[in-house]
Amino acid sequence: MDKLIINGQRELHGDVCISGAKNAALPILIASLLSEEELKLKNVPSLFDIKTTELLLSALGVEISKTSSTIILKAKKINNFNAPYDLVKTMRASILVLGPLLSRFGKARVSLPGGCAIGSRPVGIHIEGLEAMGAQIKIENGDIVASTQGLSENRLIGTEIEMNPVTVTGTENLLMAACLAKGKTTLKNSAKEPEVIDLGNCLIKMGAIIKGLGTDIIEVEGVEELNGAEHSIIFDRIEAGTYMVAAAMTSGELNCIGVESDKMSSILYKLKDAGVEIIDSGDVIKIKSNGKLNPVNIETGAYPNFPTDMQAQFMALNTIANGNSKVKENIFENRFMHVQELIRMGADIKVNQNTAIISGGKILEGANVMATDLRASASLVLAALSAKGETIIDRIYHLDRGYENLEKKFNQIGANIKRVN
Ligand code: EPZ
Repeated sequence: MDKLIINGQRELHGDVCISGAKNAALPILIASLLSEEELKLKNVPSLFDIKTTELLLSALGVEISKTSSTIILKAKKINNFNAPYDLVKTMRASILVLGPLLSRFGKARVSLPGGCAIGSRPVGIHIEGLEAMGAQIKIENGDIVASTQGLSENRLIGTEIEMNPVTVTGTENLLMAACLAKGKTTLKNSAKEPEVIDLGNCLIKMGAIIKGLGTDIIEVEGVEELNGAEHSIIFDRIEAGTYMVAAAMTSGELNCIGVESDKMSSILYKLKDAGVEIIDSGDVIKIKSNGKLNPVNIETGAYPNFPTDMQAQFMALNTIANGNSKVKENIFENRFMHVQELIRMGADIKVNQNTAIISGGKILEGANVMATDLRASASLVLAALSAKGETIIDRIYHLDRGYENLEKKFNQIGANIKRVN
């Protein structure tokens, strides 16, 4: 099992190119199921979860070919409608094949995703939404077995669906299903994340009729079929935010290249609060830090509120900031797995239900720590970059799911990270 060895207290200086967003690429790759024509995608990040998605799509019969910077997918010969447990258990987002398979082929069998480290992760809204569109769905031996049998032309029927709470992949699953349904679908209380909008924009290029992307109410007029298209994946605002916090914690000066500040306002707002200088020049954002950080109170929420995927990273920043702070996690019930590991590095954090109280002003010390989930692992990397001495992070396959060339990018800007197995 790979480990990272990080020697800390090195200032980070230079340029980092931000990759395509994992959480946009996953649903957009899966959207290829909705058409028999070629979907050409650029700026797809090379990540473990992307490989898993490609494996899953190939298993369903999608033809996938790659050039240096483009992935071409063609779902002309779909001959299998079953997303097996051994793939779904490694990546919960596999549930996203349910809507497209059901909508285009009228049948699907997808292993019910289990929970994961950060919470129970239910998918009831996905299932109830598809049932509202006329699908017959039952749970059999741990699988979601879905069919449009009995519906005229075996086709889902557009309807009005209200999702509660806001769900990113729930919105994405139902949005994709609605594109080929009969009639109009109205999705209320929709997720507004940039990644959801990017999926919607790609679907529109494929011929879908969608209004209201980025608002609470998305309206879809179903069409008979979708065509091929070309699309470039939006930048990863969580990867960008992670590097920005790294610069803040190491008195660095960093140019994040290929970003759009308006899609990460809540993150930039909190960095400014922390005392970091931000120079926004279009698709490059410069972060300058003198290392004197103010503590920032964080409360996570659905977009455009502060993203839960940046909570662990800001907790790491708060452990060294001068003063006390509060971090409230409102989205997932168990997203404080990084706390115990940060405490091993000298942090002072007390957790009370979904709120962590951090007493800052610490100088963290290197230690042996363990990654538990994707963003918790990122917070350990950030802590290690600012800590005195050597940190060894174990189980870093979590990191490889969501950060492309992490140690290469960090070493290029002055970090000292080695990967060993
Ligand atoms: C997406 O997960 C992201 N994953 C997560 O990123 C991200 O943390 C999360 O959205 C929140 O922004 C992908 O896009 C692949 P949700 P998702 O459904 O869609 C509840 C990362 O680190 N809920 O928006 O699974 C749920 O329990 C990953 O990149 C239901 O109750 O999250 C949670 O409390 C981690 N019933 C809330 O909604 C449902 O049917 C939001 O979850 C679905 C969700």
